[in-house]
Amino acid sequence: MGMTLPRFGVWAPVHGSRAAHHDPDEPDDASWARNRALVLEAEALGYDSVLVAQHTVNPYDDTRDQLETWTATAALAALTRRIELIAAIKPGLFHPAVLAKMALQIEHISEGRFALNLVNAWNATEFEAAGLPFPDHDDRYAYGREWIALVSRLMQGERVSHEGRHFRVSDLQLRPADPYRTRPRIYLGGESEPARALVADHGDVWFINGQPLDAVRRLIADASARPRHLPPLRFGLSAFVIARETDAEAEAEHARLLALAAEDAGMREASRTRVDPQVVMIRTMARARAVGTNGGTAAGLVGSYATVAERIAAFGAAGIELFMLQFQPFEAEMRRFAEQVRSLLG
Ligand SMILES: Cc1cc2nc3c(=O)[nH]c(=O)nc-3n(C[C@H](O)[C@H](O)[C@H](O)COP(=O)(O)O)c2cc1C
Repeated sequence: MGMTLPRFGVWAPVHGSRAAHHDPDEPDDASWARNRALVLEAEALGYDSVLVAQHTVNPYDDTRDQLETWTATAALAALTRRIELIAAIKPGLFHPAVLAKMALQIEHISEGRFALNLVNAWNATEFEAAGLPFPDHDDRYAYGREWIALVSRLMQGERVSHEGRHFRVSDLQLRPADPYRTRPRIYLGGESEPARALVADHGDVWFINGQPLDAVRRLIADASARPRHLPPLRFGLSAFVIARETDAEAEAEHARLLALAAEDAGMREASRTRVDPQVVMIRTMARARAVGTNGGTAAGLVGSYATVAERIAAFGAAGIELFMLQFQPFEAEMRRFAEQVRSLLG
């Protein structure tokens, strides 16, 4: 697989700190003001992309703040000039016609920089508290498959008539169409068999949870072997970065964050009771001694600047094209990565 120059993105702090919620070095802040400032700075630092995860309520503690994804992304689209904006979406929360319309509007506001990240959901309480159905894992994927097929066609400006198990759409066409490209880009985050089948059929980029290189290679091989009609599938990796002058200093910081994260054990325990146990991500993460969400430091981007750059290059050689990064304290470490690590990667 040829080496392309990697792209780097940041996870917006939509529910505050990524590694630990009680950190003297970082207030646990999910406010719009912070997210706005952080994304503007990421763009100024040369980051290529921002991922705005979607949760209606804070998944760790529903008394804490949570940023609303689609309204915030629309505002970010108006404030930024260059950075790609990826908004996550759980199909069960929006009708596909409404969502496709919103996606096209943000594509216009951003002048062709919008993408959505299709996620299958794991937090049962988020749905149940709102009185929304939360079918089991594979039925959610079946729903998501019908949903994204419709969203994709509507975003392409097609006139759509469809009668399926979940949706009935007759003679619907959305205008204005996308003047920048065929349609906004479609990412998908999820690792189970139905997730892989779905991304092969409908996705442009597959987001993999942070995990060691060998595991990532196996996932890429599996996904690449699947027949598809769209252009070749591309790959993104979620990872939490701890980069310092030396490996030892980075390891010490990892230990500090692991210790702080242990103070959140009660909160994490409570959030586990809200989780669908069939979600592959949750099982992958339970095995790792890591901080951060979506794999976090399990991807191994912990070490000296040179170590982290080398590991990124190895993931790049394996086919990862976009690194979606987490840090803590976020702003300071995001700056450090841009200055010290990205510069080593040419
Ligand atoms: C990069 C990435 C981003 C994700 N973002 C969200 C999100 O914004 N909201 C959410 O509820 N779940 C998110 N998820 C978790 C997915 O909902 C979860 O992995 C999904 O249920 C897929 O399950 P599976 O791994 O069993 O296929 C994300 C997962 C990945 C890999």
